[in-house]
Amino acid sequence: MKKDFLSLTDLSLSEAECLLKRAAEFKALRRSSSSPQPLLGKSVAMIFLKSSTRTRVSFEVGIRELGGYPLVLSKDGTQMGRGEPLKDTARVLSGYVHGIVIRTAAHAEVEELARWATVPVINALTDRCHPCQVLADVFTLREQGLLQPGLRVAFIGDGSNNMVHSWILAAKLFGLHLMVACPRAFRPDPEVLASAGGAVTVVEDPKEAAAGAGVLYTDVWVSMGQEAQKSERRQVFQGFQINRELIRLAQPEVRIMHCLPAHRGEEITEDALEGPNSVVFAQAENRLHVQKAILEHLLGDRK
Ligand code: CP
Ligand code: NVA
Repeated sequence: MKKDFLSLTDLSLSEAECLLKRAAEFKALRRSSSSPQPLLGKSVAMIFLKSSTRTRVSFEVGIRELGGYPLVLSKDGTQMGRGEPLKDTARVLSGYVHGIVIRTAAHAEVEELARWATVPVINALTDRCHPCQVLADVFTLREQGLLQPGLRVAFIGDGSNNMVHSWILAAKLFGLHLMVACPRAFRPDPEVLASAGGAVTVVEDPKEAAAGAGVLYTDVWVSMGQEAQKSERRQVFQGFQINRELIRLAQPEVRIMHCLPAHRGEEITEDALEGPNSVVFAQAENRLHVQKAILEHLLGDRK
């Protein structure tokens, strides 16, 4: 049976650990310029119905490095823009390609695509979650020697967005302790929160979350598709910012993380993003290595 990667819940802990280990191998092999090619002769459709820099480029380069052929599809350039249903697109593409990567707004659309496609489907971000990003983030912590049960991660900002939901699932899977600091009206989805049991605490005071944290994570106040709420959100999230004051409260070696793109002066200050504790560009690079491991796991012929 084909496997999809729509959410971190699609992975067991041992599968996730294998992917992280394999990503480290891909990273090391890339330095020695001899990438294995488990996707040789395979094509992967990449449907991007929202903007992207990191995800799109890292998948496209990763597919090529694995020996495969990536096709980037947009709404306007295809019949999806003229209303062809996803369930039809899923079946048509399954006749041509060996896997589908999709970024769209509604998580239900990705689930629908996966239901009808006969090839593996990978979620490249929905409004609900961003599993490839969080796996690359966890990989970044692992390579820094920080990934161990009980690690205190503080998420500061919009508690209701895709990155928080992904981190809640990661906290549960890897045994981390996640503290989310967010305004009351922007708390995580109660169902996702409940699924994590005691792994997650939600507070309203960023200082409470940051105190003693080993990781400070944030994401934009205004996610893609929320542009109409920009001014309201900029007001509500005032104070939910990673800055010098919060960094002082955290552990001395705290890692500053952000999935990017960042809005300096909103959710994070310039000096926090560019300072010595920041690992944001390692996170971005690691998208490539981790996604290669995911692609190989789902659609590769591993020799
Ligand atoms: N972090 C991330 O997914 O970035 P892009 O939107 O540029 O793909
Ligand atoms: N929460 C952000 C993440 C971007 C990678 C968004 O959805 O726009």
